[in-house]
Amino acid sequence: MDYLQIQGGKKLHGSITISGAKNSALPIIAATILSDKPVKLTNLPDVVDIRTLLKLLVMLGGEVEHNGTVALINNKNINSTKAVYEIVSQMRASILVLGPLLARFGECEVSLPGGCAIGQRPIDLHLRALEAMGANIEIKGGYVRAEAPNGLKGAKIVFDKITVGGTENIVMAATLAHGTTTIINSAKEPEIVQLCEMIRDAGVEIDGIGTSTITIKGTAQKPLKFQDTEIIPDRIEAGTYLCAGAITNSSITIKKVNAVHIQSSLDKLESMGCSFDIKGDEITIYPTNRLRPINIVTTEYPGFPTDMQAQFMAVATMAIGDSLIEERLFENRFMHVSELNRLGSDIWLKGNVAAVRPVAQLYGADVMATDLRASSALVLAGLVANGVTNIHRIYHLDRGYDNLEGKLLALGADIKRLSH
Ligand code: EPZ
Repeated sequence: MDYLQIQGGKKLHGSITISGAKNSALPIIAATILSDKPVKLTNLPDVVDIRTLLKLLVMLGGEVEHNGTVALINNKNINSTKAVYEIVSQMRASILVLGPLLARFGECEVSLPGGCAIGQRPIDLHLRALEAMGANIEIKGGYVRAEAPNGLKGAKIVFDKITVGGTENIVMAATLAHGTTTIINSAKEPEIVQLCEMIRDAGVEIDGIGTSTITIKGTAQKPLKFQDTEIIPDRIEAGTYLCAGAITNSSITIKKVNAVHIQSSLDKLESMGCSFDIKGDEITIYPTNRLRPINIVTTEYPGFPTDMQAQFMAVATMAIGDSLIEERLFENRFMHVSELNRLGSDIWLKGNVAAVRPVAQLYGADVMATDLRASSALVLAGLVANGVTNIHRIYHLDRGYDNLEGKLLALGADIKRLSH
């Protein structure tokens, strides 16, 4: 199994380019099911999760030519509507095919994603909304079986809780429904904006993009023709590299990033004492060697993202005072705490709040990655730890960070991928 070895203590310098957003690419790949014409996607991140979803399309009968950052997809000949356990168990975002398969073919079976390292992550809100649109849903043999033989009907959907995947599934389902769907309390993440814009550019009437009420006039089962689409920059990858600059007290430049999408992370780093030069789509961080402590509460966009919580916790270990970090989205997203403490941090956990007390130095050790963002927090800590840090189970990182060690090497880190 591969692991990463980092010799800590190196200053970083130079620039790297941010890849396309995994969490935008995944729903957009799922949305291609709404079309029976070829579509070209560019700026895809070259990560395992993207390859997994493309593999699922092929299993359904889609044609896919994929080469690193570009995919040509043609879903004209889809001949299966079953998303099997083998794929969904590898990646829960496969649930995003539920809405588009049901909307286009009037039936589908999707393996029920189980729990995951960061929490239970139910899909009840997706299912309830599809039922409100006229679907018959049953759960049998570990699968969600959904039917709407005469197509889905437009409906008023009120989400009890803001859900990114739920909003995406219902936006896609509503696109081919009969009549108009209004989604109230929808998520507003940039990834949802890109999905809605791609659907709007295919000629669908869709209002309220980027707001908490989205209205979609369905095409009554007429498949779409999408424009070629370039995936937006990955805001979480961008934030992670800014944290690398902050924790190592290094000035680095990240290119091809949308500063508006990472405003909450920039704001937190600023309150810790870092400053920035933002020119077009490039951001240079000017760090400080006296990082101030922070208070963070994770919430939905445009608030502070749960996907940046672990990385900021790593940075907070180097601050000059106590930081408080509250996780509000997922009930178990603190698995990195005990691993960071193995590197010498002093983090105290109670319920969904972590208190991070300052330490003079972190020390290299063997640590285990537990989920994607937890893994990147361990990498950040390894960059400043004294001595060698070995990060195991990095298949989590490979799911969502495009060429992480290549980019860190380019910035001057001493990092290598080894195998045992
Ligand atoms: C998306 O997950 C992202 N995944 C996650 O990124 C991200 O952490 C999360 O949104 C929150 O921003 C992708 O975009 C592929 P949710 P998703 O539905 O859609 C509860 C990463 O590291 N909920 O917005 O699954 C749920 O349990 C990943 O890249 C229900 O109760 O998240 C959670 O507490 C990890 N019932 C909250 O809502 C439902 O039916 C928000 O989850 C659906 C969700």
